[in-house]
Amino acid sequence: MITSSFIIVAIDGGAASGKSSSARALSERFNLLHVDTGSFYRAITAEMLRRGLRTDDLSGISATIAHVRLTTQVQGRSARMELDGRVAGEEIRGSAVNDAVSHFAAIPEVRQALLAYQRGQAEVARGAGFRGLVMEGRDIGSVIFPDATFRFFLQADPEERARRRASEGQRDPIAERDRLDSTRKTAPLACPPGALAIDTTHLNLAEVVARMVAPITRALEPL
Ligand code: CDP
Repeated sequence: MITSSFIIVAIDGGAASGKSSSARALSERFNLLHVDTGSFYRAITAEMLRRGLRTDDLSGISATIAHVRLTTQVQGRSARMELDGRVAGEEIRGSAVNDAVSHFAAIPEVRQALLAYQRGQAEVARGAGFRGLVMEGRDIGSVIFPDATFRFFLQADPEERARRRASEGQRDPIAERDRLDSTRKTAPLACPPGALAIDTTHLNLAEVVARMVAPITRALEPL
């Protein structure tokens, strides 16, 4: 039973499994703040690369994390991370970040630094008048919001996911990222217990969204 009117929807899954487009659709449908935590790891990675830091430079990484101020700007229905007041640009989708992000994301200090920031997005959503938030990533239903109101896990065949990413015109080593994300020690990518798993290989976006909307609508009806 849903006892609070503020809802948290957690969507986890590998690269190009359909998280972002379905999260955006749910954000529209239920008036939720859309939080793409991958963009946070990407923005942090871009900052580390800009400073010339390598993944084995733990003291440099920790010092950067300790000094950079993280805040959030709400743009439309989406949360954008600001580092020292500046929203990261398109470089976070470029190949340098594609290649490095899973290496930085596997570092416990980096994950720890983003933990409270990610949980704080609930306050951002409340403050901006949303009914809740939909957060997508790799460890949302397991670590960030294990008590999320709704939890989904998206998966798709690797060939289909590679095809989707290539059709976006990107060079992106998704198989390698998935391997790193699933085998790291801290918060590995896995279907959290109790999450509804949806295989999107043969589904279009509307079909994926319909499978998520149905249980949410059913649970919210009595409110
Ligand atoms: O673009 P794509 O959906 O493939 O990935 P993303 O959501 O932008 O995330 C980029 C990378 O950030 C992932 O491959 C993970 O290494 C890392 N990440 C993570 O470790 N934990 C999250 N909650 C979100 C992203």
